[in-house]
Amino acid sequence: MTVAAATGLPAWLVESRLAAAEESATKSMSGINRPHVALIGCGGMGKWDASNAANYGDVVAVCDVDADRAEEAVTELAKDRKAPEVVRDFRQIMARDDIDVIVNATPDHWHSLVNIAAARAGKDVYSEKPLTLTVREGRRVVEEVEQAGIVLQTGTQQRSSLRFRMAVNFVREGRIGKLRKMDVWLPAGLREGPFAPEVVPDNLNWDFWQGPAPMRPYSPKRTHTFFRYWYEYSGGTMTDWGAHHIDIANWATGFEAPSRVFGQVLTEPIPGGYTTIPEYDVRYTYPDGVALNVHSTKADSIFGAPVIEDGQRNGILFTGTEGWLWVNRGQIKASSRDVLRRDANATTSQREMSGDHMGNFFDCVHSRQRPICHAEVGHRSASMCHLGVIGLRTREPLNWDAKAERFVGRHAAEANSYLSAEMRAPYDLSFVG
Ligand SMILES: NC(=O)c1ccc[n+]([C@@H]2O[C@H](COP(=O)([O-])OP(=O)(O)OC[C@H]3O[C@@H](n4cnc5c(N)ncnc54)[C@H](O)[C@@H]3O)[C@@H](O)[C@H]2O)c1
Repeated sequence: MTVAAATGLPAWLVESRLAAAEESATKSMSGINRPHVALIGCGGMGKWDASNAANYGDVVAVCDVDADRAEEAVTELAKDRKAPEVVRDFRQIMARDDIDVIVNATPDHWHSLVNIAAARAGKDVYSEKPLTLTVREGRRVVEEVEQAGIVLQTGTQQRSSLRFRMAVNFVREGRIGKLRKMDVWLPAGLREGPFAPEVVPDNLNWDFWQGPAPMRPYSPKRTHTFFRYWYEYSGGTMTDWGAHHIDIANWATGFEAPSRVFGQVLTEPIPGGYTTIPEYDVRYTYPDGVALNVHSTKADSIFGAPVIEDGQRNGILFTGTEGWLWVNRGQIKASSRDVLRRDANATTSQREMSGDHMGNFFDCVHSRQRPICHAEVGHRSASMCHLGVIGLRTREPLNWDAKAERFVGRHAAEANSYLSAEMRAPYDLSFVG
């Protein structure tokens, strides 16, 4: 009780934390065939991830700050297996010895605190993308994960897709010559508003939902699904879809990050409505001069985006000195058949192999190896998207120091102010011990 009072944490959390600390040195997953899993955040993605995780472990608990959402998840998950228990505060999950693995499918502004709580409780996490809301949070998550020795997989599942992996390997092997330029098309965001405040429904704990984000009047347009279009909780389609396609483009370069970014706003948000930029073009430049142009699909690109023949403007186009390669979730195409040849003797295609993102995570839960999208990978790919968002918010050409993880040169002061976000008390780092 004395410790609880001193830390300001609930007694049950402090007690379990002390007990966990005593056991952590000896705890091993090696004897557990089917780890016990808890889902935190029961939206569409959470239910999907939890069903997927149920192939490898037993989902024993679900948690949501919206009671209706938690019940929906129980109904869905109980269809062909034992019904999971409902928990209201995710810290109660962290305190339990019988839960080994967390699926974190909360909105982006909650990702870091839940992941840090899991690290501190010694639980492995499958965390949805983008790994964090800000660059600074990302570095902190990496440090906490490494210090705790937990396994964290970021939910950027395109890295485990054969099609995207082939594209990256072929580009790196030089099959389109020297890489010159990459174009990424992402869906444009929503441009709606203004939204009038509404009465908070009984089933939702609106204060807890907002958590570390600033307190705002309730609107359904701020919560489920729509959180993506508010900078308080996310980054618009730059981070939502960018976490997938920009991640793949960056993976192909072999660089951790570009050295320059310049965002162009094509459509302004409506005052009082969603705050993220709906239509945009963002140009990144890598240290070797390779350009990465990110276009929102409704946009008539001011950088002269080429039109993909089949009109599928959602994907990645790699252009090299000797050809091009286009990849998205439905297809892979190239300037010649030879670019896409399957080479039985290829050694490089074995690079960073994973054919099943959730399976790769659970393999690592057992083996204690790092999964394909471990925390540093997730952090760097989220950072790419955050840089683009900051480019759009400052509307200035910016220089990025990837080693120091900060902007340098002109406009750096303003840009650096977007690298972190203040966490609203009590939902700061002390909330998770
Ligand atoms: N990997 C992918 O392809 C993919 C696809 C869609 C969504 N996502 C990601 O998954 C996450 C969830 O997306 P969604 O579309 O399911 O969102 P959603 O808004 O539908 O669901 C999020 C749920 O989390 C709950 N929640 C909020 N704060 C919580 C807290 N502190 N504790 C417990 N529950 C809390 C909400 O009440 C809500 O039910 C996002 O980060 C999103 O980027 C990934």
